Amino acid sequence: MPEIADNGRTWILSGPTSSYALHLTEADELIHLHWGPGIALADAEALAALPLSERGASFESPLDGREEYPVEGGPRFVRPALSVRTDERRGTEWSYQDFEADGDELRLRFRDAGLAVTLHYRMRGDVVERWTTLRNEGERPLELLRADSATWTLPERDDWRLSQLHGRWAAESRLTRSPLTYGEKVIGSRRGHTGHQHLPWVALDTDATEERGEVYGCALGWSGSWRIAVAQLPDARVQITGGAGYDDSGLLLLAAGESFTTPVFAGLWSDAGFGGASRTWHAYQRAYVVPDAEQDRPVLFNSWEATYFDISEEQQATLARRAAAIGVELFVVDDGWFGARTGDHAGLGDWGPNPDRFPNGLKPLADTVHDLGMQFGIWVEPEMVNPDSDLYRAHPDWVQFQSGRKRTEFRNQLVLNLAREDVQEYLWEHLHGLLSSAPVDYVKWDFNRCFTDAGWPDDPYPQRLWVDHVRALYALLDRLRAAHPQVAFESCSGGGGRIDLGIISRTDQVWTSDNTDPLDRLDIQHGFSQIHPARVMAAWVTDSPNTQLNGRVSSLRFRFVSAMAGVLGVGGDLSEWSDEELAEARRWVDLYKEIRPLVQQGDLYRLRPPAAGSSAVQYVRGDESVVLAWLQAQRFGEPVPALRLRGLDPAASYECRETGEVYRGAVLLHHGLRLGLRGDLDATVIRLRRI
Ligand code: DGJ
Repeated sequence: MPEIADNGRTWILSGPTSSYALHLTEADELIHLHWGPGIALADAEALAALPLSERGASFESPLDGREEYPVEGGPRFVRPALSVRTDERRGTEWSYQDFEADGDELRLRFRDAGLAVTLHYRMRGDVVERWTTLRNEGERPLELLRADSATWTLPERDDWRLSQLHGRWAAESRLTRSPLTYGEKVIGSRRGHTGHQHLPWVALDTDATEERGEVYGCALGWSGSWRIAVAQLPDARVQITGGAGYDDSGLLLLAAGESFTTPVFAGLWSDAGFGGASRTWHAYQRAYVVPDAEQDRPVLFNSWEATYFDISEEQQATLARRAAAIGVELFVVDDGWFGARTGDHAGLGDWGPNPDRFPNGLKPLADTVHDLGMQFGIWVEPEMVNPDSDLYRAHPDWVQFQSGRKRTEFRNQLVLNLAREDVQEYLWEHLHGLLSSAPVDYVKWDFNRCFTDAGWPDDPYPQRLWVDHVRALYALLDRLRAAHPQVAFESCSGGGGRIDLGIISRTDQVWTSDNTDPLDRLDIQHGFSQIHPARVMAAWVTDSPNTQLNGRVSSLRFRFVSAMAGVLGVGGDLSEWSDEELAEARRWVDLYKEIRPLVQQGDLYRLRPPAAGSSAVQYVRGDESVVLAWLQAQRFGEPVPALRLRGLDPAASYECRETGEVYRGAVLLHHGLRLGLRGDLDATVIRLRRI
């Protein structure tokens, strides 16, 4: 519940350890007061009583770096969060209307001529959710050139440092930290999807370590193009502005009476270092974002790396029998089961089973899989079409294109224009039909190319397709989930190209990366864990040498322990695995099922990063804990250091389930645990139970 000052002009939202406060001045300017440790209303009022800024020259604005949501126009030089144009004018000169505290949500309403702007704030745990609603209350259309979700303001500090997660296909979520210098650092995607290049997340600190110090984090919940701009202003303040769309060239045209709700831009403050910030993000997503997060995800088998496009019903049934024998709980047929899809050149858009490969549809295979005691899943890529498809032959105008221009193909495919209602209806009918035609429990939803020709020749405002594509995708997923509540969904975009809080609120897990090499994965998973929980992070054990990428040879042990740090899956060609390998795989899967509640629901401590050469993560839940540790390469004379554990009770004793040895909590916390790792690419799992 927000706390409100008697004069109705100062508000505080508080979580278990933090507070966020804002104030409306006598001149109706909405000013940021505080984001950090928990404070009282009296503290916020004291902050509100301070003068806005020292009187500067005519070249400085007293508002810059202070406002909650800087609009375009007036005495401001910072990046505007809102830029609006009508036939008559550009910019915003708003006046305050009123506020409303509704449960844990605070709404502040402003108005400018025909435009109503509502700023929303909601505290969930220690995460502040912010978003903005814009409504055209005038009679003429109004163009939103830019409508960011929020602007965050950090306190004055020396030497801010920026953490970000950058990458590319098969090398996603690489963590990097660099000093923030004056000016702006802008990250985002102009690709139509979240992108492999950056996760929509930033963290700011000055001197934090993994377990100590102040960290601010912001993450955007939007699965299309987006932008986050981090500005180091001249007076040591930092502002972070983010929202949908990459540039300011036009987001939507709002007709009279229409409104636009921005995605949520969430933020948190933690004084428990990067690890504490991650645990707050993870707890928030499990509690408020991920659907049915309290249900553990099953161990899956996925056919992609085992059979690629060369699939048949009998061959998949053979794999299913082997998968069931090693303890797999969900069998997923990846690409190649539909239309004329015998390679990546054809078939996308035609969502009926391939008659040569599945002469009686998918039901017989689904039944076989169910009879083996597993759930059944399929792969789809609904937003795309191959020119070589019945759909494209019938509707060449259903794709994004610019008239008179070439249609750019990537992976032999074009992007359907999901902003069109007929396309939306086609996809609903075919996907709903598909899920009704066979007992499907799981859908892997892929997206394998970026937007390039985002045109819509017949539409008066084609620019809108960037936003409307995402809105249509969300609506379709929502509709399918409502009609098929037993079906779980995985978000995939050539691996980790569509991972953000928006898609995670509509899917049960995400495909982290097409890179299934277990060593490369440690870096990817380290970055991923900065923001997202293991509960959604799918990870497969594939073949050695790695077929998809780098040919690296690694033991089953190393591959399993690497993948067991998330939602375990198996993606190797089981028909080629020896009896010994299958038996060993069964033991790892059994072990994973035991530790699964800790991994998927527990608190994560990153004990040592992959860059250290030997690395480890620890999950803690109640009286139990599990450590997963990896050694990349042993060097003579450089013993693997003892691992200091976290999150244990120093006064308690813990029994190691692997060896039966008993350790004092204080000793594990302060002196650490010695691991018997040796050689190259070694790994271990250590389970501890409080006694
Ligand atoms: C890209 C995905 O990331 C892979 O796992 C696989 O599903 C292929 N697409 C199939 O085309």
